[in-house]
Amino acid sequence: MILDGNKISLEIKNEIKELVSKRVNERKKIPHLAAIIVGNDGASLTYVGSKVRACDYVGFKSTLIRLDDSISEKLLLDNINSLNNNNEIDGFIVQLPLPKSINEEKVLLAIDPKKDVDGFHPTNFGRMALEMESFIPATPYGIIELLERYNIETSGKNCVVIGRSNIVGRPISILLSQKSDRGNSTVILTHSRTKNLEFFTKRADIIVSALGIPEFLKSEMVKEDAVIIDVGITRVIDKTKEKGYVIKGDVDFLNVSKKASAITPVPGGVGPMTISMLLKNTLLACQRKD
Ligand code: GUN
Repeated sequence: MILDGNKISLEIKNEIKELVSKRVNERKKIPHLAAIIVGNDGASLTYVGSKVRACDYVGFKSTLIRLDDSISEKLLLDNINSLNNNNEIDGFIVQLPLPKSINEEKVLLAIDPKKDVDGFHPTNFGRMALEMESFIPATPYGIIELLERYNIETSGKNCVVIGRSNIVGRPISILLSQKSDRGNSTVILTHSRTKNLEFFTKRADIIVSALGIPEFLKSEMVKEDAVIIDVGITRVIDKTKEKGYVIKGDVDFLNVSKKASAITPVPGGVGPMTISMLLKNTLLACQRKD
């Protein structure tokens, strides 16, 4: 079974669109998302462009703030402060990665947790880990939602997460182990220092791969009927393509899909889910102000 992120993401966007038109009829505030992007990284510009288009689709307002990659940390922090203090803005994100000259930690700490719809602020991350009300980071949230909507059981399953990033690996490992719906898994968080990774992946009922190495996960590494969630999106140069590149996931899809009981494609799997869950968080931020 293919876990169709495009289809589920559209379902979620249509649900949000419905709720927005209800808000319009009730003369409630229209959700407004802002995004700050620093520099001209092609992939980041594409992601942010998709986020803005998704806002248009569901009827949100959106504001895109583009800053030069030579911008000082102080000026970026000033921009964040003005979004924090702008009552019209319900939530905002700072697209990562940032230029090396800027301290990412300082930037994330400057975001008002009530507007941190990416869920990257330590307050939100900590609250999430403690199962308190918070914003859940969009990519892990999207994975949980995908499992939920395809009714994939996680309780009592062995889950292996590959990659320990703050954005995906670490938070999804926490969510899958929580005492909750689409939780209750036994989770093993693996990373670059893990010895004999195959030992773990071969025994996994569910694998979430978020390491960013194209076609890293081969069919010999997975067991029959495993559920495979591929979070990788790497641009691989391909001169035969109009864009000059192709997008590859972490999973050798052609072969692994023959063995898996369910698998997300790349593109069209986790990627679109991330965008819908960001919208969901923004709606939540707006509703919390009602
Ligand atoms: N860079 C890669 N993924 C993300 C994301 O979900 N949010 C932000 N702000 N930056 C990212």
